[in-house]
Amino acid sequence: MRTFPDSFLWGASTAAHQVEGGNVNSDMWRSEWAENSRFAEPSGDACDHYHRYPEDIATLAGLGLNAYRFGVEWARIEPEEGCFSRAALDHYRRMVGTCLEHGITPVVTYSHFSTPRWFADAGGWSNPAAADLFARYAGRVTEHIGDLVPWVCTFNEPNVISLMMHLGVIPAASRDETLGLSTSSEGQDPGGTRSGAAWAAPAVEVMAKAHRKAVDAIKSGPGNPAVGWTLALIDLQPADGGEQRCQAVRQAALLDWLDVSRDDDFVGVQTYTRERIGPDGVLPVPPEAPTTQTGWEVYPQALGHTVRLAAEHAGVPVLVTENGMATDDDDARIAYTTAALEGLAGALADGVDIRGYLHWSLLDNFEWTSGYQMTFGLIAVDRTTFTRTVKPSAHWLGKVARAGGLT
Ligand code: NOJ
Repeated sequence: MRTFPDSFLWGASTAAHQVEGGNVNSDMWRSEWAENSRFAEPSGDACDHYHRYPEDIATLAGLGLNAYRFGVEWARIEPEEGCFSRAALDHYRRMVGTCLEHGITPVVTYSHFSTPRWFADAGGWSNPAAADLFARYAGRVTEHIGDLVPWVCTFNEPNVISLMMHLGVIPAASRDETLGLSTSSEGQDPGGTRSGAAWAAPAVEVMAKAHRKAVDAIKSGPGNPAVGWTLALIDLQPADGGEQRCQAVRQAALLDWLDVSRDDDFVGVQTYTRERIGPDGVLPVPPEAPTTQTGWEVYPQALGHTVRLAAEHAGVPVLVTENGMATDDDDARIAYTTAALEGLAGALADGVDIRGYLHWSLLDNFEWTSGYQMTFGLIAVDRTTFTRTVKPSAHWLGKVARAGGLT
């Protein structure tokens, strides 16, 4: 019996702001250009995926992959409050259609960190109307594309700021001033409320409410997509004496968020590495441990651990919506992904319900405050000509997908 089911989704992920280019009505764009910006560089034209998506989706399909997770951009779809862009909605419908023509299952994220400027100006996620505003947007998107989309992620990593705060990567006391995260932190955040972004450490109750309202809006629209959200799940491990502290962080930063998923059709798991927690907090990565361009420990076993945690606590099927590493050593990417998939195979063999593996990322892209220096892609993008170069890891993952698993 093959470990990975025939229906398994094998693919790659992107996020609208990180690949499309020209997302001028977003809070991120503004943050990137602000005088006190913490961004290494602006996103600019990104990968020009807004125009080149047909080529990128055809490439993904040609590799043998069968799923593509991408984002629709709220700032394009609702550039002014209450004014929905038919052109932007049509664009995303064409994108979904292109996936389907190639036999690719689309997995669509409705909110991946960036928001419209007007939403950020009105208080972002701390605005009491945020949940209704997001649900209205989610309803409009679903009316337009819901009939064609089998998988919807409402939010990408709504827990990431909370996780950073609990890990002490960003100080809780001055959170509004510290949202441009250092490059050594997992799950790069968006920009910094000082310069007008919407993300100020949203509490689980706030995001859960927005999520629930969006789910209702999506479920009352056309189609019958499976709906969930995706969480940043670092594999948190207690070091000597750190058991209590690790448990407290795990509860607040992971489990409280996984609980919200109990009512969903699935939970998206996004795991890159582990953090070891001692009695005084996060321990530094040991000097002998290999690290990625982002400074994270190369620890692919993390994925097998977190899918088990997610399945156990959320009690719903798991979709791996992101996993990968920032490196210019493509052999290292293949070795990392092999080990991550071995972890998944082990979990599947133990009965964990895992529906797919979507690698981060399809393209080298805009890694938030770190800019374009971090290369997570299966495909390289020339920053001047936008020419794509398919890396060996992309061919390798396509082969794994065609074979239905590691051989
Ligand atoms: C998490 C985020 O969802 C994505 O936007 C980011 O680029 C990757 N992880 C890598 O940091």
